[in-house]
Amino acid sequence: MNADQWIDKLKWRYATKQFDPTQKIDSETWGKVEESLILTPSSFGLQPWKFIVITDDAVKQSLLPHSWGQPQVTDCSHLVVLAARSPITEAEVTEFINLTATTRGVTPEALDAYKGMMLGFLSHMDDDTRTEWAKNQVYIALGQLMSTAAAIGLDACPMEGIVPAEYDKILNLEEQGYTTVLACPMGFRSAQDKYPELAKVRYTADKLIQHI
Ligand SMILES: Cc1cc2nc3c(=O)[nH]c(=O)nc-3n(C[C@H](O)[C@H](O)[C@H](O)COP(=O)(O)O)c2cc1C
Repeated sequence: MNADQWIDKLKWRYATKQFDPTQKIDSETWGKVEESLILTPSSFGLQPWKFIVITDDAVKQSLLPHSWGQPQVTDCSHLVVLAARSPITEAEVTEFINLTATTRGVTPEALDAYKGMMLGFLSHMDDDTRTEWAKNQVYIALGQLMSTAAAIGLDACPMEGIVPAEYDKILNLEEQGYTTVLACPMGFRSAQDKYPELAKVRYTADKLIQHI
C-alpha cells in the first residue's frame, strides 16, 4: 500500500452507526485484528490492558442498556471492550521484566536498572493516577485497532458512550484487576447507514499543524 492508498483508506473509514448484522468477520481475518492489538506499543512496553472480544449474542444484548442504547453493540460482528489494568503494581512490572528476559535471552537481573526506572515512575502515582495512566495507554490500542480495521476493510465504531462500571460488572473485570475504558464494535457497515455519505468534518492543517 502506498501513501495515497493509505489516505484513501482513512477517508473510507468512519464511525459506523449501523452495522449489517448478517455479515460476520471470518476467523482468519479476526486473528490478524487480534495480532495487531497485541502489537500495540505502550509506555515502557508494559501493556497495561486487556481486550475482551464478544461474539455471544446474549452478552452483547446484556450490554446494550449500558451503551446508551447504541445498536452497534448488538448488530456488530465482534464487540471489543478495551480495558485498563487497575491499578498496575510492582507484580506486573516484575512479570514484564521476566518476559523481556526470556524473550531476549538475558537474566532478569540484567534488567534491574530498567525495572528500577519503571518502579520509580510508578512510585510517584497513587492508584487512581496509575489507572488513569493505563487508560491513556488503552487509547493507543484503540487507534491501532481502528487503523487496522481501515487497512483491511473492516468497519468500526469507537464508543465512549457506555457505562464502564456496568460493563465491568457484566464482564467480571474488577475481580480480574481491570476496568472498562471504552468499546469498539466491529464488522461491516449496513447499506442503510447514511453516515459514510457525509463529508468528514476536520479542521485544516493551518489550525492543527505547526511547522517550526
Ligand atoms: C474515543 C471516541 C469515542 C467515541 N464515542 C462514540 C460513541 O459512543 N458513539 C458514536 O456513535 N460515535 C462515537 N465516536 C465517534 C466520533 O463521533 C467520530 O469518530 C467523530 O465524529 C469523527 O467522525 P469519523 O470517525 O466518522 O471520521 C467516538 C470516537 C472516539 C474517538
